[in-house]
Formats: sequence, structure tokens, C-alpha cells
Amino acid sequence: MKRTVEFTVNGDAYRLDIEPNRRLIDVLRDDLGLTGTKEGCSIGVCGACTVTVNGEMVSSCLMLAVNAQGAEIVTIEGLAQGDRLHPLQQAFIEYGGFQCGICTPGQIMAAKALLDHNPHPTREEVVEWMTGNLCRCTGYYKIIDSIMAVVEGKVARAQEATT
Ligand code: FES
Ligand code: FES
Repeated sequence: MKRTVEFTVNGDAYRLDIEPNRRLIDVLRDDLGLTGTKEGCSIGVCGACTVTVNGEMVSSCLMLAVNAQGAEIVTIEGLAQGDRLHPLQQAFIEYGGFQCGICTPGQIMAAKALLDHNPHPTREEVVEWMTGNLCRCTGYYKIIDSIMAVVEGKVARAQEATT
């Protein structure tokens, strides 16, 4: 039997009737059309499906959608403001933080969760935090470089210089 669940996604309020065994990633992608969130391993290991729920990093392949009752959910689609990319998105472009891009939404959402809690982590703290997000393409250095560019204010300065 379906249950009625209310939550917000990227600031939009939803009231949905959901089977209790459906995962959050499936509701986001299939019901709401938010396909930026990717599925990799399906077992909580790769981080591709990372979103934030009430500001905390969550693997949406492991969370039942009904358990998001009342939550504020943010996906990769919620980061840009109009045509203006979030600094992390801009940094991944400028610093080569992705290749195929499958892992990238999860990488960026994980990095956002870190910087929201700690805007000035060390490089070592960033590396430690990002260990739950796997990438088969980049070798990780450029992902960390991209995040550190935001930490060090390089991207924000670059954006200001072009506007
Ligand atoms: S798809 Fe969720 S952690 Fe890999
Ligand atoms: S950019 Fe291809 S898996 Fe990370």
C-alpha cells in the first residue's frame, strides 16, 4: 500500500504517494525527472547517487523515499542559480575534475556537503572526506584540485573577473 510523503527537493515542495519499498534515487530520477543523480553500484559503495538530505550527505540508493518525510533534499540540479553555476560546478570544469562525468554529480554533492560544514578544509581533509566517492576516469587528483580551487577562492575570483 502506498504512503503519502511530503518533502522538498531543490526548494520545490512535493506530496507524493509512494510504495514503501521504493528508493529515494528512483523517486528522484523516475518520478521527478531529476536524472542528474546517477546510479553506479546500488549498494552504497560508489557515491554516484549522493544527494544531501537536511544538509547531510546521503547515498540515495540506500535510502527509502518514505524515510525522507519532511526532509529538505538537494540534488545536483539544485546547485546552479539560473545560468550561474555553483562554484564547485565551475571548478570541476576549469580544473578538469571529470572525464566521463558519471561520478561527477555525486562528487560535487559530496564536496558541497563538506564545504557547507567546513568551508576551509585542508587538502588532506578533502581527500579523506571524498574517499566514499569513486571515479574510474580521473585518477582523483583533478577532483581534489577542483575542490581546493573553491576552498582557496580561485574560482570565485575567476568568476568575478569575467562578470
Ligand atoms: S549507486 Fe549509490 S552508492 Fe553507488
Ligand atoms: S569522471 Fe568517469 S567515473 Fe569519474
